[in-house]
Amino acid sequence: MKIQGSVALVTGSNRGLGRALVSALLEAGADKVYAAARDVSRVASGDPRVVPLALDTSKPEQIAAAARAAGDVTLLVNNAGVSNSMNVLTASQAAMETDFRTNVFGTLAVIKGFLPVLEIARDGAAIVNVLSLVSLGSFPAMGGYSASKAAAYSITQSLRPELRRKRIEILAALPGPIDTDMVKDLPIPKTNPVDVARAVLAGVERGEEEIFPDPMAQQMRTLWSRSPKELERAFAAL
Ligand SMILES: NC(=O)c1ccc[n+]([C@@H]2O[C@H](COP(=O)([O-])OP(=O)(O)OC[C@H]3O[C@@H](n4cnc5c(N)ncnc54)[C@H](OP(=O)(O)O)[C@@H]3O)[C@@H](O)[C@H]2O)c1
Repeated sequence: MKIQGSVALVTGSNRGLGRALVSALLEAGADKVYAAARDVSRVASGDPRVVPLALDTSKPEQIAAAARAAGDVTLLVNNAGVSNSMNVLTASQAAMETDFRTNVFGTLAVIKGFLPVLEIARDGAAIVNVLSLVSLGSFPAMGGYSASKAAAYSITQSLRPELRRKRIEILAALPGPIDTDMVKDLPIPKTNPVDVARAVLAGVERGEEEIFPDPMAQQMRTLWSRSPKELERAFAAL
């Protein structure tokens, strides 16, 4: 899908990667970007193409209202995500449920809510699920979060054949660590969110079903393509 002329919606757009995705979409020539956030007062505006939109992805009534308000969307970017559950033996059930509620069920609910909108896009439509490298192999230090992102990847695969028949592409962005609030306490190399956002959109333009938008992701892709076991071992050794 071409970003130029698209009408995009980005969830969780008030900070981090979501904010960078809004900027990258504008830079790449999107006609309009719905900047969705739980608190719209924190959305960066200033460009007349940005339309702030209230959307908590765990609230069905807000999803329905957003789909009514944004009936011209052609590119849905499911970026909203949380990371609460770390080691699976020590994380609380509540922390794991929060990660699954947002990363899996929230993402799926937004897709279902926007399907009637995407189906009627004249030249076809696309969905990008912002997942993670840990969708493909668990990082044990973030085992609960990894499980939620793996489930979201599986759902992305489940949807692909049916959505293809409706002329909707569904793509998985699989970044490594990004320099945002989510991993601010992790002392590891991280990629700038602006670079990740631009690389995600380049992958969308190429129609890549799996987008590896940063140097670590590309390195891990090599292992994963060779053998998923190698990726598992590499994460276990981190
Ligand atoms: N940072 C990384 O290293 C990394 C790596 C791979 C993938 N990712 C993925 O990239 C995406 C963006 O993460 P980030 O790094 O930008 O994290 P972030 O800085 O923590 O931002 C997360 C965003 O998601 C929003 N959000 C959380 N729950 C929501 C809900 N129920 N409804 C609507 N919005 C909600 C937050 O809104 P509030 O401000 O209201 O909390 C915030 O805007 C996530 O899906 C994350 O899993 C991140």
